[in-house]
Amino acid sequence: MFNWLYKKKETRTKDFSHIEIDIHSHLIPGIDDGVETIEEALEMIKVFQELGYRRIYTTPHIIWDCYKNTPEIILNGLEEVRMAASKAGLTLEINAAAEYFIDEHFVDMLQNGQELLTLPGNRLLVELPYSTPLLNTSETLFSIIEKGYKPVLAHPERYTYYYSDPSIYQKLVGQGCELQVNALSLGSYYGDNVQKMANWLLKNNLITFLGSDAHKIQHLEQMGRNNKQNYLVTYPFMNQKLL
Ligand SMILES: [Fe+2]
Repeated sequence: MFNWLYKKKETRTKDFSHIEIDIHSHLIPGIDDGVETIEEALEMIKVFQELGYRRIYTTPHIIWDCYKNTPEIILNGLEEVRMAASKAGLTLEINAAAEYFIDEHFVDMLQNGQELLTLPGNRLLVELPYSTPLLNTSETLFSIIEKGYKPVLAHPERYTYYYSDPSIYQKLVGQGCELQVNALSLGSYYGDNVQKMANWLLKNNLITFLGSDAHKIQHLEQMGRNNKQNYLVTYPFMNQKLL
């Protein structure tokens, strides 16, 4: 079973071994816009290993208008992926959290004390709309802190409405929010503006975590092509400090 996993010659170098732990991906089949099949998930897990990762936290979207995922759905999916990976002889440690879109449903869950899936250190991975700002981003992030969580803002470099005043990122970090930039944003994958913003965040030491945000194998393959960049070894990403 799963012999197809070993057909391709291993050609990638392990240049993400300094990052060691990935905190953002979409590897649970069929529950968001990430992988659709278990085979796809296994293929990606194999590439994560080849890139030098040792542990991942996969983070399905919870966006109540599109993906009504619950801890039960995500954890059942995690179990399925773990079992298949183990049968296929893959050794990567696989865990799950979630990527919470800040919508009414999220605010309700937060206020009602419902179970939320966290990264180590009681961190909550949250995302914002891409093109229209929320009215109360700062307040919501602060209420996450008040409830005892640490907000990790996913791909801040992709929120176009902040480009005119990037000092907002300094304020958010000052408030206690951590920033997770996508590895592919530091190259040209999402376009010039995203790359420019990601590199600005890097230069200003505002990034806490590097994430793959891998939805499909092509994302990891592209990361493999970009993996000679100096920032991987010189920038103090905190990924490997997550216990
Ligand atoms: Fe994501």
